[in-house]
Amino acid sequence: MDSVTVITSGKGGVGKSTVAAAAGAALVARGKRVLLIDCDAGLGSLDHMLGILDHRVFDIADVVSGAVEPAQAVYPCAFEENLFLLSAPGTEEDVVSPEVMRQLVTVLSRYYDHVLIDSPAGIGQGFLSAAAAAQRALVVATPDPVSIRAAVHTRQSLEEAGVRQQRLVVNRFSSTRFRAQKCYRDLDSVIDAAGIRLIAVIPEDPVLAAATLRAQAVPQTAPGALAAGRLAARLEGEQVPLPDVGRF
Ligand SMILES: Nc1ncnc2c1ncn2[C@@H]1O[C@H](COP(=O)(O)OP(=O)(O)O)[C@@H](O)[C@H]1O
Ligand SMILES: [Mg+2]
Repeated sequence: MDSVTVITSGKGGVGKSTVAAAAGAALVARGKRVLLIDCDAGLGSLDHMLGILDHRVFDIADVVSGAVEPAQAVYPCAFEENLFLLSAPGTEEDVVSPEVMRQLVTVLSRYYDHVLIDSPAGIGQGFLSAAAAAQRALVVATPDPVSIRAAVHTRQSLEEAGVRQQRLVVNRFSSTRFRAQKCYRDLDSVIDAAGIRLIAVIPEDPVLAAATLRAQAVPQTAPGALAAGRLAARLEGEQVPLPDVGRF
């Protein structure tokens, strides 16, 4: 199984960290042990989302500098058993090089069923390091032309980084908004424009957003959690039909 997955996007703020946290929790619900690695140097958010911020001392930069062992910088999520986090460095200067990230992830991945790497937006150094360590990628995009155009750049950059196995996660989907925007005829047009095979459609879900921002477990019946559950199943190779997101 390809157990190291980078979660990327061309455009910022489309929901990478939210999707990473939700996918991690959904994999845990399937009985798996999951490590999240935050690569968004200077802008890390998973420590907050997983309820670790207040007692976190070390981050990935402390591991890379040799100050602590990796296990000392990996913290358990406050509300989810078997979900762990290695936090991003506090400043951009401490961004980890691709080669060092690859070595670190190779070692860490032995102890987990899945490693999910939360990449910064764009195609800078943090992205290159995150991509270097991954076997496959989820490209997160909202269903609008600006985000999809950025996803095309990400697809090309991932290919250049050698990550050929890529899937599209359409996040914050609302059929009302999608119809009103009239940017795309249907979801197939979005997928065609991105040029990436679809793996999940995560709905616009205030319950998912609120729980994540308040560092709480997402209620399993929330639409976003159900969608994350289907994403987790597909990440594990199960054939789950894509949801019928309606006709447009
Ligand atoms: N499916 C969703 N439904 C509603 N809000 C969402 C959803 N996904 C993300 N958000 C919100 O979008 C904002 C950006 O999400 P975040 O995960 O921090 O994005 P990124 O990591 O790509 O910068 C946050 O306020 C988050 O709560
Ligand atoms: Mg983020």
